[in-house]
Amino acid sequence: MKLWEGRFDAPTAKNADLYNDSLPFDCRLWAVDIAASIAHATMLGQCSIITGDESKLICDNLNAIATDIAEGRLEIKGAEDIHSFVENELVARIGDTGKKLHTARSRNDQVATDFRLYARNAFDCLTESLIWLVESLCGKAQEGLKLIMPGYTHLRKAQPMCAGHFFNAYSEMFLRDLDRVRASRDRANVMPLGSGALAGTSYPIDRDITCDLLEFDRPCENSLDGVSDRDFVAEFLFDCSLIMSHLSRLCEDIILYSTEEFGYFEIADEYSTGSSIMPQKKNPDIPELMRGKTGRIYGHLMAILTTIKAIPLAYNKDLQEDKEGFFDAERQTINSINIMAEMLPTIKLNKKRMAKAAEAEFCCATDVADYLAKKGVPFRTAHAVTGRIVRWCIAEGRTLQDMTAEEFKNFSDIFECDICEVVKAQACADARTSYGGASSACVRENLKSIKKRLKIYEN
Ligand code: ARG
Repeated sequence: MKLWEGRFDAPTAKNADLYNDSLPFDCRLWAVDIAASIAHATMLGQCSIITGDESKLICDNLNAIATDIAEGRLEIKGAEDIHSFVENELVARIGDTGKKLHTARSRNDQVATDFRLYARNAFDCLTESLIWLVESLCGKAQEGLKLIMPGYTHLRKAQPMCAGHFFNAYSEMFLRDLDRVRASRDRANVMPLGSGALAGTSYPIDRDITCDLLEFDRPCENSLDGVSDRDFVAEFLFDCSLIMSHLSRLCEDIILYSTEEFGYFEIADEYSTGSSIMPQKKNPDIPELMRGKTGRIYGHLMAILTTIKAIPLAYNKDLQEDKEGFFDAERQTINSINIMAEMLPTIKLNKKRMAKAAEAEFCCATDVADYLAKKGVPFRTAHAVTGRIVRWCIAEGRTLQDMTAEEFKNFSDIFECDICEVVKAQACADARTSYGGASSACVRENLKSIKKRLKIYEN
C-alpha cells in the first residue's frame, strides 16, 4: 500500500516504482526508523495528541516489529521505502491506531532524523576503527625506536631518521581524522524531527521530548533547513575521503618499502598474494587494493556535493541519492582501516637493510655542512664545500663514511678528526633533537604524546 495513494486515480507504472523505490538500500535504516517512531509516538502520547493507550499500543508493536526483523521472522519487502514498510506493518498489526503514528510528522523530517541517527553510529564506528589503527601504528613506532632508516623527499634519499618517526607521522594523520570525525559527529547530532514536511506543524508537539529520547544535542532551529540539510553526509564522505587518502599514502609507502629494491619491510604471507604465472611472486594486493578504493570514496564525495549543489529549499527527491554512496563509503572505509590495523603488526622491519640504506647515497651530507656551519662557516659556503665533497666521492667511488679525516681536511681546514663520527647515520638521526625531530629521543616523546592524545577518544 502506498502512503499517498488517496490522491491518485491510477497506480504508478511498474518501472516508475522500481526507479522510485528506496527500500532495496534504505532497508538498513530499519532499526533507527523504528527507534525514531517510538520516540515520536511517546511524545505524541505525552503531549496528549494521541491517548496514552494509543501511544503504548503503537510503541509495543513497533518494538515487536523490531524484534521480528532482528530475529529474521519478518522480511523487509513490498514497500516504497523503509518508512512505508514499518508503517504498513504497524497498521497491519493494530489497524487504525497504527494510522495515527504519522500525526504531526512527514517522511521528510522522518528520513532526515533516521539518517542522522544512522550516521551518528557510523561516525562512532569510524572512531573505534581509527583508535585500533593508531594503536597498531604505535606498536610499530615502538619497534622502530631502536631502528634507523632513510627519510625521503622527492622519493630521493634525504636524511637518516629513527624509524619510529615514520609510523608516528601516520599516527598524527589518523589523530587528525579522529578529531575531524568527532567534530563532524557533533555537527550531525541535531534533530530534524518536528520539522514536518517543511514548515513545522500545528499540533502541540514537544521537540525536547523526542530530542532527549533520541539523545540528540538539540532540535534544529529551522524546519526548512532541518528537512533538507545533508551537510552531515558530505562531511562524513569528506572524512572518509581524507582517511582513505592517508591510508593510500601509507599503502604506497608499504608497497614501495617492501619491493626487492628497497627491502625495508616484508609483508606477511597472510596479507600477500601470488601470481598465477610467475611462481616467484609475492604481491602486495591488499595495500594496492586499498590505494585503489580511495578513488571510489572520493567519487561518493563528489556525487553528494553535486547532488546537493542546486537543490531549492526544502526537501526534493534528489536527496534520496544521499544514501548509497554513504553506505558504500562506510563499509569500505571501515574495512580498510580495520585490515590495515590488523596487517601492520605482521609487517617485518628489515633492520639491516634500513640501516644500510640510511647511510647510502650521501644521506648524511647535510650533517657535514652543518658541522662546518656550527664552526662558523656561513651555511651557504658550508653547503658548497660539502657539495664538492659529494662530487669527489662520486668520482672516486667513495662514501662519506669511508673518508678519512685527512681527506675531509683537503676540502676545508675546519674539519677535525670528529667528522668521521658525525657522518654515521645513527649520529645524524640522533642529532636531530629539535622539537618534533627524528632523533630517537624526540620520537619517543612524540609516541608518548600520541598515546596520550589517543586516550581522549578511547573514553
Ligand atoms: N525515500 C525517501 C528518501 O530517502 C524518503 C522521503 C520521502 N519523502 C518524500 N517527500 N517523497 O529521501
